[in-house]
Amino acid sequence: MVVVGAGPVGLAIAWRCAARGMRVVVHDPAPGSGASHVAAGMLAPVAEAYFGERELTGLLTESAARWPGFAAELAEATGVDIGYRTEGTLVVGLTADDLAEARRLWAYQQGLGLPVTPLRPSQLREREPALAPRVRGGALAPTDHQVDPRRLVPALRLAAERAGAVLVSEPVRRLRDVTAGVTVVAAGCGAAALTGLPVRPVKGQVLRLRTPDGGPPGFRHVVRGYADGEHVYLVPRDSGEVVVGATVEERSDLGVCAGAVLRLLRAAVDLVPELAEYDLVETLAGLRPGTPDNAPILGPLPGQPDVLVATGHHRHGIVLTPVTADLITDLITGGGADPLLAPFRPDRFAVTPNAAPAAEPPPSGGVASASAVGSGARTTSERAMEDDSWN
Ligand code: GLY
Repeated sequence: MVVVGAGPVGLAIAWRCAARGMRVVVHDPAPGSGASHVAAGMLAPVAEAYFGERELTGLLTESAARWPGFAAELAEATGVDIGYRTEGTLVVGLTADDLAEARRLWAYQQGLGLPVTPLRPSQLREREPALAPRVRGGALAPTDHQVDPRRLVPALRLAAERAGAVLVSEPVRRLRDVTAGVTVVAAGCGAAALTGLPVRPVKGQVLRLRTPDGGPPGFRHVVRGYADGEHVYLVPRDSGEVVVGATVEERSDLGVCAGAVLRLLRAAVDLVPELAEYDLVETLAGLRPGTPDNAPILGPLPGQPDVLVATGHHRHGIVLTPVTADLITDLITGGGADPLLAPFRPDRFAVTPNAAPAAEPPPSGGVASASAVGSGARTTSERAMEDDSWN
């Protein structure tokens, strides 16, 4: 079988299928350089449970429940630390208006039976003294965890290769050029041109800060904030990194603009003042693979039963990696179609033959030009294949 795209989703499918004895070739000129390179790695089935996305929320919850086992298996297979952390997520509101907005969503989430526990300001600050005294209130989502996508991808690649999968750098430009018995398209926004499915790039600008002394950040939970109407997330890593994200823009360029950086930083510092002292080490833009209903596209391409699609994960690629890999692997290896797949089948959309990409090239899936000091990020010209994995 051939997998197109070596982001987390493609690599996890390759790992699972190779482990079941299949011969697997993964095509990607730049593994892990797509959306996952930009992604913060939040595993957030609760904080990202939005109005009107009930079926997606079910899939997020199922996949998040698979994450502990998935992480343990990956550690067993590779010995790599992928930065999987389980402190949970604090969702906070800076002003009374911010808190009112947040509360409306918590009520919805609680109505679905999801674990979200409101906390008083004093309880919040007991958990995270680094939060600004101005913060009016918040809630704990204890099952919303995190992983580091930049560690996850190399680990998945190692696991896939140890299981026998082979990675090659030749890009796949047309599905008809592939001669494998089964082809899996896990190419993020690139899936649009390959399959004709309506996958569109949704731009996100993201910053990375670092503690000046290289020690761990002064807070341990993922913090998702509403701050004077801005939505921001802060993801602390043991390495001293804090990921600050993200814009959500219906456009496909990869520019990083001063206004977005300003808004993200202002919101971040309003919530956790000490961040003003951190180094700004990277500014980056990436492209989430969005779909018309914001849910992923999983299953056989209409009229082409040997082509399976695993794309359109939009804001949820990392959290959805385990369930996507399991369900697609079951389809390929004869386990049949899990009922979980039903709402996400490709045939809910029309296929446009010979579709062009939804917009301007992106030659890459996501890493934009990084302008900040010491970013170490790749430029668009260094990136060619997209992946599907943004959280
Ligand atoms: N899930 C976070 C983001 O898409 O920015």
